[in-house]
Amino acid sequence: MNNRIPEEIVEDIRLTADIVEIISGYVTLQRKGKNYLGLCPFHSEKTASFTVNAEKQFFHCFGCQAGGNVFSFLMQKENWTFPETMRYLAERYGISLPEEELSQAQQQEQQARQRWIQILNWAGDFFHERLITAPEGALARTYLAERGVSAQMILDFRLGYAPDRWDALIEAMRKHQVQPQELAQAGLAVENSPQKYYDRFRHRVIYSIMDRRKQTIAFGGRVLDDSLPKYLNSPETQFFQKGRRLYGLHQAHQSIREKGFALLAEGYMDVIALHQAGWLNAVASLGTALTKEQAKLLHQITQRVMISYDADAAGIQAALRAGEMLCQEGLQVNVINLQGTGAKDPDELIQSQGEEAFRAIIERAETYVEFKYHTMMTEHTPRTIPEKAAFIARLAPDILAVKSPVEREGYERFLSYELGLTLEAVQREILAQTPGSSKLARKREYSGAIKDISVNNRDTINRPLDPTPPLATVPQGVYQAEWILLRLIDEDHSRIALLEAELGLSFWRIPAHEKIFLAVWEAWQKGNKRAFVYDDEEMLNVWHRILLKEIDTSQGDKIFRDCVRTIHNANVEENVEDLQVKMAQMEKSGDFTGAVALLKQIGERLRRDEK
Ligand code: UTP
Ligand code: MN
Repeated sequence: MNNRIPEEIVEDIRLTADIVEIISGYVTLQRKGKNYLGLCPFHSEKTASFTVNAEKQFFHCFGCQAGGNVFSFLMQKENWTFPETMRYLAERYGISLPEEELSQAQQQEQQARQRWIQILNWAGDFFHERLITAPEGALARTYLAERGVSAQMILDFRLGYAPDRWDALIEAMRKHQVQPQELAQAGLAVENSPQKYYDRFRHRVIYSIMDRRKQTIAFGGRVLDDSLPKYLNSPETQFFQKGRRLYGLHQAHQSIREKGFALLAEGYMDVIALHQAGWLNAVASLGTALTKEQAKLLHQITQRVMISYDADAAGIQAALRAGEMLCQEGLQVNVINLQGTGAKDPDELIQSQGEEAFRAIIERAETYVEFKYHTMMTEHTPRTIPEKAAFIARLAPDILAVKSPVEREGYERFLSYELGLTLEAVQREILAQTPGSSKLARKREYSGAIKDISVNNRDTINRPLDPTPPLATVPQGVYQAEWILLRLIDEDHSRIALLEAELGLSFWRIPAHEKIFLAVWEAWQKGNKRAFVYDDEEMLNVWHRILLKEIDTSQGDKIFRDCVRTIHNANVEENVEDLQVKMAQMEKSGDFTGAVALLKQIGERLRRDEK
């Protein structure tokens, strides 16, 4: 029986499952800075030394050294095999696993899917290459430059250019043995008359739509001027439905987790501008109203969505609909209102008024209920009692969808104040809108049984001081400098080249540090920002400890220089010592000229080092 789970699905599960959420089912976790602390489930303890890191999705126990990712946690805790763990997580996060034994039809479908992915990615490479290097891509390059799109964004979003020809892609795909008919099936060519095909995308800037594994699955193409239609998109196929995808998610999912919310925009260009401005948590739907599937997709990785749609009337209406969808899905929703800024969308705001302007407006974002209230008020202010009742009834589903009873009552009080009604009247009106059986439950809740969740903020962790270096021959300062360097490199990979230039690659004294460095270095060489070797347990353990140490990274560059100097000085000192030993040996063996030459060398070394 073949029950191997395909790599891509394992990856999908890994990207979706949240370690904090999973471990919270076993351990009471308290937030402390970037980490969560709790009592270790793998050994018995009274003070918390079990740590979960949300950003990098791992756990580590300072008491018993247990550690790993979300998979190893479940495997250890539940004593599950790997496939069992996958099945559990897949079910929990709504990811479908292939049937254990594929029928012939399923096998065919799987093969067709793989072929489709392959063709889409070849096409993506072709468009991308045309934009970046081809002479015929010059116009598109200028267009993007004029719109302020950086080279990094062109890479991160695999932007491209479809040449101004009828068969550019068709011709280019022949070398991959892709026939025009296959291109048409993938939505990249159009059949004109029987057996006559032409490229769907011509003379357009290409936006690659990718899945979370960074595989291209569709394209959007924008004209370079004001002609219509502005955008042309890949048609829906058996494998691509736009209502189930979000533009930018391949770049955004990690950041959505880290920041605790997603920024939801309307357009491709908004997502790119937001990422370029540092909002890596921005995504957009693909030119249609937000769907339930998209809301679910967001809910898999976050609890909160900040809508940032266009400022025009259509944008407001779309924000109302998207907000309702997201609230019904159980998400907390905020809305950014661009009206009054003079900009029509987030891209324009950032381009014309800068990143700070966007940050300022995010801080003023309203909750969805506030936004809807204000929008309804602008449309029509209720004056009579029946009008007020109807007004409340329209807001009721949104208020009822709010999970926090405190927040809900806040809205009710606000409405009673604003509309000049008693709180009881407002509450009765809202309650009357409760659908079906949940009414009773709500009623009970309203009668005051609000549990106050007070968070215990005492610092209970008892972390051992920095352990002495594991090798007696390594000075404490060098040991420290090494691990701090690893942390700083992990934070900013551009420091790798700097480090290599300063110290080379082979200065590490602690073997585990060297291994970690090589893994990070290799990932960086491959352009992979996050990949990390997960099979060397000792290394992993050391790495987790390093990641959990507190250092002031705001001073990163200065600390980096200090560490480099520490290691450099130690190396020089050691060289001098080596030379001295050599000199003594030469003296002993009667080689006085040699010894004097060495003495001179030592003197120079020390002088140089003093400078
Ligand atoms: P916008 O017109 O707001 O797009 O449409 P934009 O991204 O801000 O484009 P620029 O700034 O003019 O370049 C929002 C989204 O609606 C879809 C696209 O996904 C677009 O990003 N759309 C728009 C289409 O699919 N077709 C169209 O003709 C227009
Ligand atoms: Mn725009």
